Amino acid sequence: MNPIPFTEWMAATQTRVEAALSHCLPAANNIPARLHDAMRYATLGGGKRVRPLLAFAAGELTGASTERLEVVACAVEMIHAYSLVHDDLPCMDDDALRRGRPTCHIEYDEATALLVGDSLQTQAFEILAAPGLVEPRQQLEMISLLAHASGSRGMAGGQAIDLASVGKPLNQPELELMHALKTGALIRAAVLLGALAGTPLSPAEREHLDRFAKRAGLLFQVVDDILDCTASTATLGKTAGKDEAAAKPTYVSLLGLERARDYAEELRRETLAELAIFGDRAFRLTQLADFICHRQF
Ligand code: IPE
Ligand code: IPE
Ligand code: MG
Ligand code: MG
Ligand code: MG
Repeated sequence: MNPIPFTEWMAATQTRVEAALSHCLPAANNIPARLHDAMRYATLGGGKRVRPLLAFAAGELTGASTERLEVVACAVEMIHAYSLVHDDLPCMDDDALRRGRPTCHIEYDEATALLVGDSLQTQAFEILAAPGLVEPRQQLEMISLLAHASGSRGMAGGQAIDLASVGKPLNQPELELMHALKTGALIRAAVLLGALAGTPLSPAEREHLDRFAKRAGLLFQVVDDILDCTASTATLGKTAGKDEAAAKPTYVSLLGLERARDYAEELRRETLAELAIFGDRAFRLTQLADFICHRQF
């Protein structure tokens, strides 16, 4: 095996996903043009595409085809883009900057941003339900997995806990539950859907991949909390320092910066341990866990 370097693989996958998203989304001049234009604004031309990268890397475990992985990656990224549009609304985090540009409700208006979220969410399920993607039973499992990860027992539920926790110190298990839901659930879905797009894993492999995905999701949000108070707005492309300003409970407010960093490192090691069973096939997932832990933006 002589794989291309991680940065090249990442750039090539991001380019592929960008093109696939652009193809899936309605054209900007389709009526209602303002809504379609705003959907494209919120989804295209920015973001690290971590969830698509995870889906592609997990697909390497099961020999999933690029065509299937593009669909899975686009579906998860559309849910993620919708969650960011709503997260930035005045009634949630009230943010003006996202991916280095004005947030959707600032560039358009609040009602449009609301509808962008609604439309991206349903479009994600429309593409995942397209006839012939995979064998029907497997496809239903994929749809159900993404639905669960997005809803009140997944991302939306985590957002509800986040908003209800403003100004309240949470203990570590409570904080972990909030993070596992608001961010972890979609990251886990990206990993599992990527693997499900190929040949089935053994029950033991699936168990390890699931544990990997859960730890990676938590790691992602711990690092997001750390970056919120250590990186600049210019580097992040979103407003830095807002967790503290909004009195949000985070791993940094709970543990302090140094222990939050140690915890991220501990989670990174735990993710890697879960991948041992896959040997070389988990090469890209290993690199992605390192990237998620050590990213600067
Ligand atoms: C930010 O997600 C919101 C969280 C769930 C922590 P990302 O850091 O993946 O945002 P983009 O997609 O790269 O902009
Ligand atoms: C956002 O968490 C999680 C979701 C959008 C589901 P944050 O509120 O911490 O994300 P950022 O920091 O605004 O990107
Ligand atoms: Mg938020
Ligand atoms: Mg936010
Ligand atoms: Mg944050």
